Amino acid sequence: MLEMRAIEKRFDAVVALNGAQLKSSAGEIRALLGSNGSGKSTMIKVLAGLVAPDRGKIFVDGQPVTILSGLDSKRLGIATAFQDLSLIPTMSVTDNILLGNEPLNSVGIVDTKQAQQTIRDLLDRFHIDCDPAAYVQTLPPSTQTMLEVAKAVSLHPRILLLDEVTAALHYDEIQVLFQILRELKAEGMSIIYVTHRMNEVFEICDSATIMRSGETVIDAPISELNLDDIVFYMTGQRPEVASADACCESTTEGELVLDVKDLEVYPKVWGISMKAYKGEIVGIGGLQGQGQPELIRVLLGAEKLAAGTIEFCGKPIHLKSPADAVSLGIGFVSGERGREAMFPLRTVEENIVAGKVAKGGIFQYLTPKSLRNFAKDAVEKYEIKIGALHHPASSLSGGNQQKLVIARWIAMNPVLLLLDDPTKGVDIHSRREIHKILRRCADEGMTILISSSDSEELLDISDRIYVFYEGSISDVLCDESKTADRLVAAMMGMNAANRKAGA
Ligand SMILES: Nc1ncnc2c1ncn2[C@@H]1O[C@H](COP(=O)(O)OP(=O)(O)OP(=O)(O)O)[C@@H](O)[C@H]1O
Ligand SMILES: [Mg+2]
Repeated sequence: MLEMRAIEKRFDAVVALNGAQLKSSAGEIRALLGSNGSGKSTMIKVLAGLVAPDRGKIFVDGQPVTILSGLDSKRLGIATAFQDLSLIPTMSVTDNILLGNEPLNSVGIVDTKQAQQTIRDLLDRFHIDCDPAAYVQTLPPSTQTMLEVAKAVSLHPRILLLDEVTAALHYDEIQVLFQILRELKAEGMSIIYVTHRMNEVFEICDSATIMRSGETVIDAPISELNLDDIVFYMTGQRPEVASADACCESTTEGELVLDVKDLEVYPKVWGISMKAYKGEIVGIGGLQGQGQPELIRVLLGAEKLAAGTIEFCGKPIHLKSPADAVSLGIGFVSGERGREAMFPLRTVEENIVAGKVAKGGIFQYLTPKSLRNFAKDAVEKYEIKIGALHHPASSLSGGNQQKLVIARWIAMNPVLLLLDDPTKGVDIHSRREIHKILRRCADEGMTILISSSDSEELLDISDRIYVFYEGSISDVLCDESKTADRLVAAMMGMNAANRKAGA
């Protein structure tokens, strides 16, 4: 149905695509895989008419086509859900979905009734619970992502491109999405699916195209690939032993760094008691919005607690602002890099040293050269793929932007590091590297609290996992109880009867 041949694209000195190929057929879900910066989003953007390739050919149904604009792409029956959402934040849900695709009545005027019905059906189908008149910017990130996909699907495309749409979604939302994708596939749609979550590849995809440094390295049915093969094709290296360090030791005897008792945050979090010890990696799991963000925000000093106490290194603390938290040695990495963590128009170097400067204080003199070296080291250590240190951070691929933010905070060496979906959009190889770095930091005495929407990541990295359900802790998992089944059950509140708080 679709074929891209020998696609080349340069952005100044950066070669984004170097002869990349991609084929897809009707009634197929094809995974498009590759490390951060390997060129996946650029391929998607070429098909969407947002990036003009320097060279290469595209065929639809065997006919050569030229895609010079979004309109060309749409005419060919292609619809796209982008990694950096294309919704307009200051417009309503309805207007965003209908934009450029308004249903017209017989005299050519927008048929409002028909439009409202279409929107209602679409929101129902995607289980999106929101007011169609709400401004998109007021909705949680995962709802925005669901809308981005719903919008693409509403165009009834023949070819649907999904660029990392599940990075911001939670377990229940992903199940809804997968059901819809299966239906669309049965109807004969060709779906190209970019993801870094490997369990999804095996669950939903039929075939895979794997890219490395702008080239296509393999195209194969999923049944012929296993996880190690995929990592091999992505990186060119066979992974060392199994997956990340499965350190399961309970470190619950050491020094208590964080002791939260009976925490309440108005209106929906109550009775949260939890502990984190020195050198421990504590996971926070749960479906979207079960109180995890509130906990993190309280620990950051960004939200007020209604009741309860927080002790940090043995002393009660009362945080009034994130600056208080930073001065006590509490660091924070957010998966929402655009909104909370990155300065997109500033250079890569400025973004990395931002944290160091903040902590340096006025009496610590930092020379431009030492800052530059610091930034250079960070780029090397975290293998961040950049054009040059003076390029804007927005020129990096999604996953590389996220690595930038993580590098900055780890470099500050906080006592307690709070991570909110830190590896969202980070490829599996880099994710393992980041996990190793976090484990090393923990071994050296840092305490890490990580909230993640990705169950696999939580199970991989945490010593202990507190699972949130409807604003309270529904289960605490460690050692043998740290299993995927138990985690999912607790996330769905299926064990609320034997609810226990604290370790
Ligand atoms: N507008 C741009 N200006 C400069 N460089 C760019 C631009 N868009 C992409 N690049 C570069 O092209 C390369 C490929 O980027 P792309 O976004 O396609 O990667 P990706 O495979 O989608 O990665 P990720 O998994 O991190 O999303 C990267 O090195 C990126 O920095
Ligand atoms: Mg991308």
